Amino acid sequence: MSDTPPVIAIEGLHKAYGPLEVIKGVDITAKRGDVVSLIGSSGSGKSTLLRCCNLLEDSQKGEITFKGEPVSWRGSGHGRRPSDAKQVLRIRTNLSMVFQQFNLWAHMTILQNVMEAPVTVLGRDPAKVETAARGYLDKVGISDQADKYPAQLSGGQQQRAAIARALCMEPEALLFDEPTSALDPELEQEVIRVIKDLATEGRTMLIVTHDMNLAHDVSDHVVFLHQGRIEEEGPPETLFGAPKSERLQGFLRSTSHG
Ligand SMILES: Nc1ncnc2c1ncn2[C@@H]1O[C@H](COP(=O)(O)OP(=O)(O)O)[C@@H](O)[C@H]1O
Ligand SMILES: [Mg+2]
Repeated sequence: MSDTPPVIAIEGLHKAYGPLEVIKGVDITAKRGDVVSLIGSSGSGKSTLLRCCNLLEDSQKGEITFKGEPVSWRGSGHGRRPSDAKQVLRIRTNLSMVFQQFNLWAHMTILQNVMEAPVTVLGRDPAKVETAARGYLDKVGISDQADKYPAQLSGGQQQRAAIARALCMEPEALLFDEPTSALDPELEQEVIRVIKDLATEGRTMLIVTHDMNLAHDVSDHVVFLHQGRIEEEGPPETLFGAPKSERLQGFLRSTSHG
């Protein structure tokens, strides 16, 4: 098993928005079953990194490799783009994203939201997808909400629906961008619980989070980003228990009192 290529390998990634350099040479690897958390101040580049990873954003330099398959590029610098549309679709559908704001379709029921992409993007059989979708709704604890519309659910239930939707793509990895930030504290826990279950199941996940308890509890590896660079990284016990960098120490002090 040790020679299985990582699900995600990012090497020397650079990303700028026009003249603004946002990611300045970052390496991140997630092997199968790894949970990697990205922490850091607002504006440090966490969301951008996640979006580069599933090719929602272009990047100018560096390699992104999915299960040993490097993204093929054409052009260079600000003209660099993925050159193989099928590869982009394959990678993107295998790295399902869960967003801070849930991004459910308001005009569709919860079940329809969960079924939508597997049926329309992957062309799977609707009857089979429905069975799977109901299973995932059950897994996140909202099978009784299947026929409701998003607006009828609490934020925590909507986020769990968004996780069921991501799971229904049967992806290789899940990417979470601040999945609990939009939730009231009492609703955060129900989402955290689902994320912890997924970690225990051995899902490969990249998690951007402001919740240091979550990062501590679920991660195999934690990456602290500062102004587009990795300032410090390591296992959670070390990163939170014995941070070396002053910036990380300061960041952890500010979050524990926030
Ligand atoms: N679409 C965009 N256009 C221009 N600048 C952006 C865009 N998205 C993000 N940025 C800038 O990139 C930097 C990193 O942002 P982001 O990745 O959202 O950080 P984080 O998720 O860590 O808060 C910030 O300075 C932000 O203002
Ligand atoms: Mg962000």
